[in-house]
Amino acid sequence: MSTTTEAAEPASTVDLPESTGGGITTFDITLKVRRYIPEFSDEARWDEWTITMQGTDRVLDALHKVKWELDGSLSFRRSCAHGVCGSDAMRINGRNRLACKTLLKDLDTSQPITVEPIKGLPVEKDLIVDMEPFFQSYREIMPFMIANSPAPSAERYQSPEDRERFDDTTKCILCAACTSSCPVFWTDGQYFGPAAIVNAHRFIFDSRDDAGDMRLEVLNDKEGVWRCRTTFNCTDACPRGIEVTKAIQEVKTAILTRAA
Ligand code: SF4
Ligand code: FES
Repeated sequence: MSTTTEAAEPASTVDLPESTGGGITTFDITLKVRRYIPEFSDEARWDEWTITMQGTDRVLDALHKVKWELDGSLSFRRSCAHGVCGSDAMRINGRNRLACKTLLKDLDTSQPITVEPIKGLPVEKDLIVDMEPFFQSYREIMPFMIANSPAPSAERYQSPEDRERFDDTTKCILCAACTSSCPVFWTDGQYFGPAAIVNAHRFIFDSRDDAGDMRLEVLNDKEGVWRCRTTFNCTDACPRGIEVTKAIQEVKTAILTRAA
């Protein structure tokens, strides 16, 4: 099984099994989706479909096939379908991944492929969760530049070295795969969670920003960085390969070493 941090391979490099007659190679999978339809029941249930897919298909393609050809009521979020918008994080075979970046050929297709909503956020329908608690934490860390000096006539200059300091955390696409893989977040929904801390890191270490102390104070809260137990689930889950746990550790250190 592949890791979640690898980008989907371009179709031209995928090693397809031999096919006869020059046709496109296909195979059958069983897709098993945890469904919650509040109009019908308070209980979630599992539905499964056996469908024929192609070697370059991703889990998102399988979900589309079910929705478009078999059961139009199946509900999930997606937009870009190319690992950019962050809207299709879900638990695939028990691990948080983006459905659009998870190739079926990298999963064990001899077993049903399970798909569930991400954990720790209220499920609205099927694979759709209420992201409001996640974005509330995001808003609280003030994810925008706050500069005290007057706006220059051109851009605010920054050296390549200063830009490099926070490069990793600029890659976040707000998919929530990290926060919803965190055991602390599962048990304490008030915890800011890894994604909010990653996005605070992005501005705290930006040399052009002047509100780092304010963000550090927000995260010095009892529901802030000190709730992190360094389990590395977040780093493992991040589809952008961001060193999430390292960013959290750097914010902790910044709180401890900031000027009194
Ligand atoms: S840090 Fe990674 S896993 Fe977390 S929200 Fe950003 S992109 Fe998603
Ligand atoms: S649909 Fe946009 S990241 Fe997957």
